[in-house]
Amino acid sequence: MDIQFNPAVTLDRLLSAAAAEVEGLGADFDAQLRPADPRFGDYQANGVLPWAKRQGVNPRQLATALLDALNARNPDLGDWVETSIAGPGFINFKLLPAFQLAWLKQYRDQASLRAGAAGKLSGRKVVVDFSSPNTAKEMHVGHIRSTVIGEAISRLLEFSGAEVIRDNHIGDWGTQFGMLIWAIKDSGCDLDNPGPNALAELEALYKKGNARYKESPEAADQIRAELVKLQRGDPESDRIWKRITEISWQAFQVIYDALDIQFDLVLGESHYRKQVDGIYQDLTETGLAQEDQGALVVFHPEHKRFAKQPFIVRKADGASNYASTDLATVRYRTDELKADEVIYVVDSRQSDHFEQLFLTVAKYYAAKGWKAPSMQHVSFGTVLGENGKPIKTKEGGSVKLKDLMQEAIERSFAVVTEKNPDLPEDERRKIAEAVGLGAIRYIDLSQNRTSDYIFSWERMLSFEGNTAPYLLYAVARIHSILRKAGIQPDQLDELPQGAELESDGEKELARKLVLFPATLDQTLSDLRPHFLGGYLFELAGVFSSFYTANKVLVDDPAVRDRRLMLCQRTLRVLECGLHLLGLKTLERM
Ligand code: ARG
Repeated sequence: MDIQFNPAVTLDRLLSAAAAEVEGLGADFDAQLRPADPRFGDYQANGVLPWAKRQGVNPRQLATALLDALNARNPDLGDWVETSIAGPGFINFKLLPAFQLAWLKQYRDQASLRAGAAGKLSGRKVVVDFSSPNTAKEMHVGHIRSTVIGEAISRLLEFSGAEVIRDNHIGDWGTQFGMLIWAIKDSGCDLDNPGPNALAELEALYKKGNARYKESPEAADQIRAELVKLQRGDPESDRIWKRITEISWQAFQVIYDALDIQFDLVLGESHYRKQVDGIYQDLTETGLAQEDQGALVVFHPEHKRFAKQPFIVRKADGASNYASTDLATVRYRTDELKADEVIYVVDSRQSDHFEQLFLTVAKYYAAKGWKAPSMQHVSFGTVLGENGKPIKTKEGGSVKLKDLMQEAIERSFAVVTEKNPDLPEDERRKIAEAVGLGAIRYIDLSQNRTSDYIFSWERMLSFEGNTAPYLLYAVARIHSILRKAGIQPDQLDELPQGAELESDGEKELARKLVLFPATLDQTLSDLRPHFLGGYLFELAGVFSSFYTANKVLVDDPAVRDRRLMLCQRTLRVLECGLHLLGLKTLERM
């Protein structure tokens, strides 16, 4: 048996070869293998039914003929998988322990898991546009979702073989900089010697500028003049604007470092401000854009709402905007970066913007005869406080991300200290950091991203349920089992002699481990990290049942080595999955 990382690929290859020999099927038959309802098996081939319908033949007979051919070509198939025909012509496959063992023999450490997964997306170049805060403003709780979901998706894509470009499309351009530069000059604040909270000061100055703009016609005139100066490239305005970006980025960097995130590109909206003229010209020439009350807009007549709701690409005052810079950014990503795909990890409140952007790009590229990239808006809901309303500080302000991270670490430190008062303090600090930051990430990633979720300290730091502490503890516990056995994880890479799985607990655990690739597939096809989180939580549960019912350190060396091997494989898959989600795992807790 040719054991591929994904058992569905193994089965698919066998089925294709068999289908080539079956009258009425042929080599281009697609078996459509999917994970099955666990009551019926592990995988199910759904392809016979639609095929038979198209040919006007009996699907059950066709399925039987396919299975016969499969068995004839593979006389020992029954040692590896159990097959059956269900309903009108689905074929079910249940992987047998021999299959699982052969899989476990091969996928035994991080390197082999990675090598196994990497075939899926190799050769694909994907830009992941995520985090993307606006400069001159502190990152708040709203940025956590894009940041942690974007990083998890980037890691998952990379693991599956894609070449990923992490692009932080910061909001560093727009009319707000007229207000900010005016307020900076007005206050006489010295950007060359910024204080420790420089970014918070800039945010306050911006608010002041904005208020003055509304109150005072005189200030409003000066603010407009500041904006024009900046747009024309006045050296002093440009210098101040660059300092604003630097100060903002220094503060963002502290957060990204703590979360272990590195961007490949940080170009920001300003980078595209010179490219927008070409976009206006192209959209006008191709007839996609039209003048409307002084602005340049794109309508989509075939769309229910966007037939009337314009996509404004140039404002009436002639300035570029979010839409024009995003269009220019797509051009950069296809022309310069040669991306096949662009993924935008942005709040669901921007879905109209992205829907209009994607429609416009499709028509723009088609009119030019260019190949458009595949584009996806990975949207997400809002973080709510325990009262079910968008989360706020006691004073009603937005919750700063850095304060949230700090509080998570402090609270974890208290929990760890209570559980392990005897550990040295620096070790407790290290554990608290992994648990606290892991908990912030995991409470987000364990939710279906399109739903809102309630941010609850109690739930996210609990050692029970689908939480970071529970999963990190499951990892630490297996490390401790192996330590007690006096064995290093990599000493268990080889499959022991006579490893046939015996007990139900062993078989159930092996079965769950072999479902890891199917989980990765499901997670990737929908770009929903909570599928992976849910699987890891279940795996930890299956491991717990195995460990309760099966003593590992028994006298019989065959049993003991086999069970230790299962512990080690579980550890590898848990660590691999948690790292993909961005969590740091621990050997002791
Ligand atoms: N800066 C924007 C915001 O804070 C998000 C940018 C998302 N990326 C993009 N290419 N539009 O809302």
